[in-house]
Amino acid sequence: MCSVQNGIKEESLFDPKILYNLDFSKSTTQYNPAVSVKDPGEGLYMRPLCRSDYDEGYMSLLSQLTKVGDVSREEFEARFSAMESCPDSYYIVVIEDIMTKKVIGSGTLVIEQKFIRKCSSRGRIEDIVVSDQYRGKQLGKLLVDTLMILSQQIGCYKVSLECKDNMVNFYSQFGLAKEEGQNYMCRRFKEM
Ligand SMILES: CC(C)(COP(=O)(O)OP(=O)(O)OC[C@H]1O[C@@H](n2cnc3c(N)ncnc32)[C@H](O)[C@@H]1OP(=O)(O)O)[C@@H](O)C(=O)NCCC(=O)NCCS
Repeated sequence: MCSVQNGIKEESLFDPKILYNLDFSKSTTQYNPAVSVKDPGEGLYMRPLCRSDYDEGYMSLLSQLTKVGDVSREEFEARFSAMESCPDSYYIVVIEDIMTKKVIGSGTLVIEQKFIRKCSSRGRIEDIVVSDQYRGKQLGKLLVDTLMILSQQIGCYKVSLECKDNMVNFYSQFGLAKEEGQNYMCRRFKEM
């Protein structure tokens, strides 16, 4: 198991201390009952993505979000290493069910370095997913909240995400809002 408790920090995509030291007084949402990064729920453990999560169902979890395709262990590890080699850029947070040793929730924050805004950076929240049997336990909320606070703490001047119409209400609880006159445009090169 990829475990911070076991001290295998090298396995983590980023330093777990960053996650556990976040200031949740900045949260814009409420929890009932209380959940937190250190205590996301009974039998659950929140931590950075680890290299060994390939064996803990991470790809199968992502397939509940979108098409994933056949990804071999080598491809996964190569991508993990590529992300790891870009410090302060990729923050993938997961929630693990300790009993089953499966990753049951995940969210990504990507930091883009900019020249504008006095060489500031912006955050993009991506790939929020909670496994269907674990939904409705505030885990999605906790994942997004965590990434929002993290992006603010890193010093991003803004954070954004793309979502379908039916998700707008869900995301608005984190202070995210549609901006008038702004459009999201996209051109797809491949249907994979
Ligand atoms: C969206 C998703 C991550 C939510 O995870 P979850 O753990 O079930 O969500 P939570 O339990 O934290 O929900 C928190 C609140 O958001 C609400 N909510 C959840 N999904 C919602 C939706 N699609 N639209 C509006 N509100 C929603 C819940 O009703 C709950 O409200 P409450 O606090 O007033 O009771 C999960 O449904 C999922 O993985 N869906 C498939 C992948 C997906 O669509 N990801 C988002 C891509 S943009």
